[in-house]
Amino acid sequence: MSAAKIVSLINMKGGVGKTTLAVGLAWELAKRNRVLLVDIDPQFNATQWIVDAPTYLTWVRQKHTILNVFMPTSMSASGASTGNQPAASKPTDKTTLIPVKKNGTTLHILPSILDLMKLDAAPRGTENRLRVFLEKVRGNFDYILIDCPPTASLFSYSAFLASDAYLVPVKPDPLSVLGLPLLERAMLDYEERSGQELPRLGLVFTQVRPTESMTATMQQVRDSYPGEVFQNTIHQTTGVAEAVEANMPLQYFEKGGKFPEVKLALTNICAEFVKRVKEQL
Ligand SMILES: Nc1ncnc2c1ncn2[C@@H]1O[C@H](COP(=O)(O)OP(=O)(O)OP(=O)(O)O)[C@@H](O)[C@H]1O
Ligand SMILES: [Mg+2]
Repeated sequence: MSAAKIVSLINMKGGVGKTTLAVGLAWELAKRNRVLLVDIDPQFNATQWIVDAPTYLTWVRQKHTILNVFMPTSMSASGASTGNQPAASKPTDKTTLIPVKKNGTTLHILPSILDLMKLDAAPRGTENRLRVFLEKVRGNFDYILIDCPPTASLFSYSAFLASDAYLVPVKPDPLSVLGLPLLERAMLDYEERSGQELPRLGLVFTQVRPTESMTATMQQVRDSYPGEVFQNTIHQTTGVAEAVEANMPLQYFEKGGKFPEVKLALTNICAEFVKRVKEQL
């Protein structure tokens, strides 16, 4: 079996639905594939969504998080940055990836932690550590998704270096769309720094409302990025906060069949994603 394809979900604009799409797509892919979701956002929203609080707290006391992947093992030994993290040992798949099972589907997550913020002044070469770690575990997976923070930071650059492609969640309101040229500039900067190009797998509209203005904005984006925008879109729903609170995938969180649209959208987006990966990577 071939090694996982690694795709980052990136948009330097905040709140556009990166995490919601990353978590939804990860669970959907996990129905038929071995999937790892990597949370490299110090806000650790994806981690909080997937892992319940008691499990998470026990895990960070005893095992590793993305912080250990980014930090030299010798630094973990001092416990200086990790607070209540365990004594020094090299992060491995067993100590770092949490398996979570829902409705018979298993998803692995490489959890994040708030202390990741302290890594700002990291030593040179830190940006390569995620790539090196994922190279070691990618043989165990079919897809690895990386949920990025909304900043052009060390973390986003690490994701760039570790990925085979990137996917852009876009909220089709005028302000969010204005962020697209900024994203392109940041990606160009990464390409120049690294001497590598990263293919764009596509753009996915999120939090869509069927207003005239959103419809017009979506058409503008489709015209600016011909052939790149996924056909299926994620609509604005009311259940996201409840699904997060219940640590449940949005698509399974169907109290009284409240969210059939999102469930179907995610199934279709997943199919488009798999097709694009097969054709483009
Ligand atoms: N389809 C949706 N329907 C309703 N609310 C949504 C939807 N998608 C996302 N949201 C809400 O919008 C907010 C931002 O979503 P999300 O956290 O996925 O964005 P993000 O791009 O990951 O944000 P950040 O830049 O902070 O990482 C959250 O409060 C989330 O619950
Ligand atoms: Mg997020």
